[in-house]
Amino acid sequence: MPGITIIGSGRYNPGKPVLNEALERVMDTDDEWIHQRIGIKQRYFAGEGVGASDLAVEAAKRALESAELEPSDVDYIIFATMTPDYLFPGSGGLLGAKLGIPGVPALDIRQQCAAFPFGVQVADGLIATGAAETVLFVGAECHAGFMPWSDWDLVTGDKEGKSPPDEYDRATRHRGLAIIFGDGAGALVLRRTKVEGHGLLGCETHTDGNYAKQIYIEGGGFRRRPYWTPEMFEKELYIPSMQGRNLFKNAVTKLPQVVRSLTAKHGFSLDDIDWFIAHQANDRINGAVRQALKVPEEKVPSNIARYGNTSAATIPILMDELLRDGTVKPGDLICFLALGAGLNWGAALMRL
Ligand code: UT7
Repeated sequence: MPGITIIGSGRYNPGKPVLNEALERVMDTDDEWIHQRIGIKQRYFAGEGVGASDLAVEAAKRALESAELEPSDVDYIIFATMTPDYLFPGSGGLLGAKLGIPGVPALDIRQQCAAFPFGVQVADGLIATGAAETVLFVGAECHAGFMPWSDWDLVTGDKEGKSPPDEYDRATRHRGLAIIFGDGAGALVLRRTKVEGHGLLGCETHTDGNYAKQIYIEGGGFRRRPYWTPEMFEKELYIPSMQGRNLFKNAVTKLPQVVRSLTAKHGFSLDDIDWFIAHQANDRINGAVRQALKVPEEKVPSNIARYGNTSAATIPILMDELLRDGTVKPGDLICFLALGAGLNWGAALMRL
């Protein structure tokens, strides 16, 4: 039976781009370091009061329009985010309500930057069992809420100058994290293709909670009574703690392994793959994965310079760009790959 495929895509990023230079006003960092070490030139941030479901609804409308479908054609939502509108309920139901399709089941998944391979694997299962025909998969993130500065006017350029020294030092303590993330949403409409041998060919996903603390938010967890205290805020426990180097090492070892394993399982060589569509956490991570797999640079598209790391939204945003500009074409064989908090990681093979 043919597999599930992408029949529509859309993306949305809020506000105006925030250049690396703007971050120099609130912490000790510089454009050259950020660009050389990560590949980022700019990112977007959602405004106060804007949630992941608000970004998602814009991306979803664009995806449905490109699929020439109405929201009422969707019969399952899979919503991936690590920065939901509320601690609970999840943002999927909010998206359904905003799209005007109450009653449509909405599943929230929590695989962070690795959302895509897990999300399509779930969509494939839903469609295979007949639970759904048309799945709307959305990744959306509002990381702005955990950024370590408080004067957003300095970042957006609405105000001249620099943060006061204590604020500046506070943000600098979190600079390794703060320069990476950006906000946005990407949406994909998934349905079974009619073309034999096309669509999703397989996924391989992994989770290892032993690495959970390599990137996590210590504050606000329900193992405490109450789950949130002023002391947690004072200790800045609402800001994720990230062991950048350890994550880097895990990504550059686990991603080549999962790609090799999945392609071999399906009888393909790495040369057969037209595109490696990878999560965008750091251009150097993708460069190292590419070298480990001996894959040419032109097969690994990058958009991190324009968006930063948009976590669960990354692969849908990148895929939307590549579909809209005609880079990725029907018949192309794509290997998606991603690793994120959890740790979760995986790959998916799809013949468009
Ligand atoms: O999807 C989310 C999961 N996250 C990731 O996948 C992140 C993976 N890790 C990384 O991408 C990299 O580890 C980072 C980009 C986070 C950090 O890069 P790094 O090359 O590992 O740098 P580092 O933390 O080892 O720091 C190297 C130097 C240090 O200076 P000294 O001690 O060598 O003098 C840092 O203080 O760079 C300095 N540094 C900075 N300088 C300017 C660290 N962050 C910054 C900054 N601006 N933002």
